[in-house]
Amino acid sequence: MAKKATSEELTDALMEHITITEEQIARLEEVFGLLGKKAQAKKCEAMDGLIREATEIMESTESGIVRDAGIIAASQKVEHYEIASYGTLCAFAKVLGEDEVAALLEETLNEEKEADMKLTEVAESSINVEAAEDDEEAEEVSTATKSKSKRK
Ligand SMILES: [Fe+2]
Repeated sequence: MAKKATSEELTDALMEHITITEEQIARLEEVFGLLGKKAQAKKCEAMDGLIREATEIMESTESGIVRDAGIIAASQKVEHYEIASYGTLCAFAKVLGEDEVAALLEETLNEEKEADMKLTEVAESSINVEAAEDDEEAEEVSTATKSKSKRK
């Protein structure tokens, strides 16, 4: 998604979150260490679906502001899923008295919330408005082309 975004602000936000995600992976390994468990990768079907949806959005739009708005929408769905997951894990850790684990998970939870807010900011500051205008232009172009061909 970062590679397909055209807005610099959006690309920066996505790239920054990739760096943060690397740190979150290290934090998760620390959580497993604290619990004395081996970290093991497992495919998440829900996340896989969100990624497929994002791919579909990118495939059905041309590079530009409208696709950027779609990328934000797809990214925010991912962030919201992460917020729900980390929020639940954090609550579980607290109730189990795993305070250190809870603190680590809360750190990640807050980063996901920040990423979500940043995306909202990027969307509301310019991309959504520009995409709406761009879409109107596209519609005008399409209507104009249609009436022209009718006249013929
Ligand atoms: Fe995230």
